Amino acid sequence: KQSPVIAPSILSADFARLGAEVDDVLAAGAQWVHFDVMDNHYVPNLTIGPLVCEALRKHGVTAPIDVHLMVKPVDRIVPDFAKAGATNISFHPEASEHVDRTIQLIKSSGCTAGLVFNPATPLSYLDYVMDKIDLVLLMSVNPGFGGQSFIPSALDKLREVRERIDRSGRAIRLEIDGGVKPDNIGEIARAGADTFVAGSAIFNEKDYGAVVAKMMAAIAA
Ligand code: DX5
Ligand code: ZN
Repeated sequence: KQSPVIAPSILSADFARLGAEVDDVLAAGAQWVHFDVMDNHYVPNLTIGPLVCEALRKHGVTAPIDVHLMVKPVDRIVPDFAKAGATNISFHPEASEHVDRTIQLIKSSGCTAGLVFNPATPLSYLDYVMDKIDLVLLMSVNPGFGGQSFIPSALDKLREVRERIDRSGRAIRLEIDGGVKPDNIGEIARAGADTFVAGSAIFNEKDYGAVVAKMMAAIAA
């Protein structure tokens, strides 16, 4: 298991002052920026694209930008995000016609690649790609909106993926996304996650540093 990473989802940030919000949350101790891309087609919401990613880079953000694509089709937006400064690009396998090709496309664009599983998406998509991916992202809510509650069955799924990652012997990150809060993050860490997305739990608080510290303490406990 790798060192823990907190990846605030900027979906819950104040978009009118996004650059400052990202600076603040990174100064508060978060390591990554989680960047939720929704297309009003694969998911019922519409958010931000490569232009905003590029704007964050131009603003001076050097932290990893973890792009979570909730779009269909997937492939044609990948090179744009790579050019815009994405670090990791994760996609939902059921939104891609050719999962292996999409992974290769992400990696040949210079990014690391992640596969995302909705609460009811079977893990069988992992069967033939464990040697190629860099990250597994488990959704603990149905994608589309911030502020939903954690679906408890995600804990068993985390344990299962943790075993598969350990068996692979590869340094694959295990990321969890949806309803992560200071009061459940310890249990989530013990189930095997090492990378923690949190949107509303961080951005709905005044003191980002206090929430991030509480989360890191609960993970370490
Ligand atoms: C949901 C997004 C999440 C979301 C998490 O589709 O993928 O990243 O913003 O938000 P919270 O932490 O509020 O559940
Ligand atoms: Zn996300």
